[in-house]
Amino acid sequence: MQIFDSSDRYGAVSRGLHWAVAVLILWQFLGMGLKLIFGRNDFVGFFVGTHQPVGFVIFWLVVFRVLWALASRKRRPDHGTGMLAKAAAAGHGLLYALMIAIPTLALLRAWGGTRGFAPFGFEVFAPREVEIAWATSLAGLLHGELGWVLAVLIVGHIAMVAVHERFWRDGTLRKMAGRR
Ligand code: HEM
Repeated sequence: MQIFDSSDRYGAVSRGLHWAVAVLILWQFLGMGLKLIFGRNDFVGFFVGTHQPVGFVIFWLVVFRVLWALASRKRRPDHGTGMLAKAAAAGHGLLYALMIAIPTLALLRAWGGTRGFAPFGFEVFAPREVEIAWATSLAGLLHGELGWVLAVLIVGHIAMVAVHERFWRDGTLRKMAGRR
């Protein structure tokens, strides 16, 4: 098994992080999408109830993913040259920025809120008596909205992989999912 990235394909660590974050982010959208469509009921409440702890896990996975990407930047598959390559690099940069910003904003809100935050029963932020308004309002304004922007970008990301596979046949998916 290839642990580290190479110019030809991603290694096991990058792949594990990519697919774990992908599945967990889809879980977040599934829950929030159900809430949007059906409102809160017992069934939807199960998904909404997992949103904060799962988001906390995503936050740490993405932090590790960014550090791993920086450490591996000289040995990863590159985007090539030209306008399309620049667009792909910019799109990936935006995906990373949103994957960091969205849970960070929510954690800022949990820190500044009065309820405290204890994912999986471990207290990360204690309850406080007075809310820190700038922290809670920033996430109130941006967390959900940026979340939906990320959802649109992910649809675009998947569509571009389909274009690579269907029309350009350049083995892009293989770098993140294939055996060779
Ligand atoms: C990458 C990770 C995350 C994604 C993609 C995400 C996405 C979303 C989306 C799309 C919404 C729905 C906004 C709407 O109602 O229109 C939402 C709501 C919310 N998010 Fe997140 N989120 C993430 C992480 C977190 C984290 C880490 C926390 C808390 C620490 C959190 C707390 C909340 C809360 C409290 C709501 C309101 C839900 C409710 O109405 O009960 N999220 N999120």
